[in-house]
Amino acid sequence: MKTGFIGAGKVGFTLGKYFSSKTGTNSIKVTGYYSRNTQSAEEAANFTGSKAFTDLGALIEASDVLFLTVPDGTISEVFEQVRQYPVSGKYICHCSGSLSAGEAFPGIDQTGAYEYSVHPLFAVSDKYEAYKELQDVFFAVEGNEEHLPEIKGMLKEAGIDLQVIRAEDKTLYHAAAVTASNLAVALLAESIDMLCQCGFDEADARKALTPLVTGNVQHVLSRGPAAALTGPVERGDAKTIAKHLACMNEQQSAIYRVLSSRLIPIAEAKHPDRLYQDIKDLLNENL
Ligand SMILES: NC(=O)c1ccc[n+]([C@@H]2O[C@H](COP(=O)([O-])OP(=O)(O)OC[C@H]3O[C@@H](n4cnc5c(N)ncnc54)[C@H](OP(=O)(O)O)[C@@H]3O)[C@@H](O)[C@H]2O)c1
Repeated sequence: MKTGFIGAGKVGFTLGKYFSSKTGTNSIKVTGYYSRNTQSAEEAANFTGSKAFTDLGALIEASDVLFLTVPDGTISEVFEQVRQYPVSGKYICHCSGSLSAGEAFPGIDQTGAYEYSVHPLFAVSDKYEAYKELQDVFFAVEGNEEHLPEIKGMLKEAGIDLQVIRAEDKTLYHAAAVTASNLAVALLAESIDMLCQCGFDEADARKALTPLVTGNVQHVLSRGPAAALTGPVERGDAKTIAKHLACMNEQQSAIYRVLSSRLIPIAEAKHPDRLYQDIKDLLNENL
């Protein structure tokens, strides 16, 4: 599949380089880049051994698959420009985690093109380095059902692991990603603050948490939440939980209560013989 990119930024560079590095083992050929600034398209073309286009129509004509790797707020506007050209039978993709294909490409069914969102569950911060890590990244794909086998086949041939999701689940999918990444930042920030209250400086707090946090994440992801769970909720230790709640400020105890409540069904499934009612009552107080 001849694949072109509109938007030579972090994701455009990364996907294009990844696809072009697979040449010989799959049928994807990167045609090249069109971008707002010609210089960005030229840099991406040099990096991927493809071509920089100054004419959007020429890139579209040269490509079967088009990735609109532009900022989320610009995707629909760029699609409006794309649809002025003949696009029937082409696969038009964006990489936003929060938008479905239908939301981003309104009216695409009148063009004869097939719409997809192809989202790498990964933070791309370096446009020259991130492609090296892409082989371990999972993609969520959503869009035109009839032609899904072709787009899935193309990505799988490039060695990409993917999950097809429904358009109506795209927002929940994105919320799941935010929960695991951004909300984990909030949780760690809160823990660092508590350690600083105990006399740690911030650098030492981060250092001290590193083995605890990285080990925990590895265990949850490799063995599952139940096997990884330790601590006062799992042990049914209501006394310790009460002491924790008493020493925290309002925001800290609110977070602690909500997240501890989420641990109870995990602990109950793991230890059906234990009673967790005391802890449930404690956590529900003042909620
Ligand atoms: N970065 C991530 O971690 C990540 C992860 C997963 C998914 N995504 C998604 O990937 C997509 C691209 O994100 P990104 O991080 O690669 O953004 P980015 O680094 O800001 O790159 C976007 C590129 O789009 C180009 N552009 C902007 N407006 C344009 C227009 N009207 N016409 C043509 N090109 C235009 C810009 O080109 P110029 O350089 O020419 O100005 C810029 O280089 C977004 O949908 C984002 O949600 C990002």
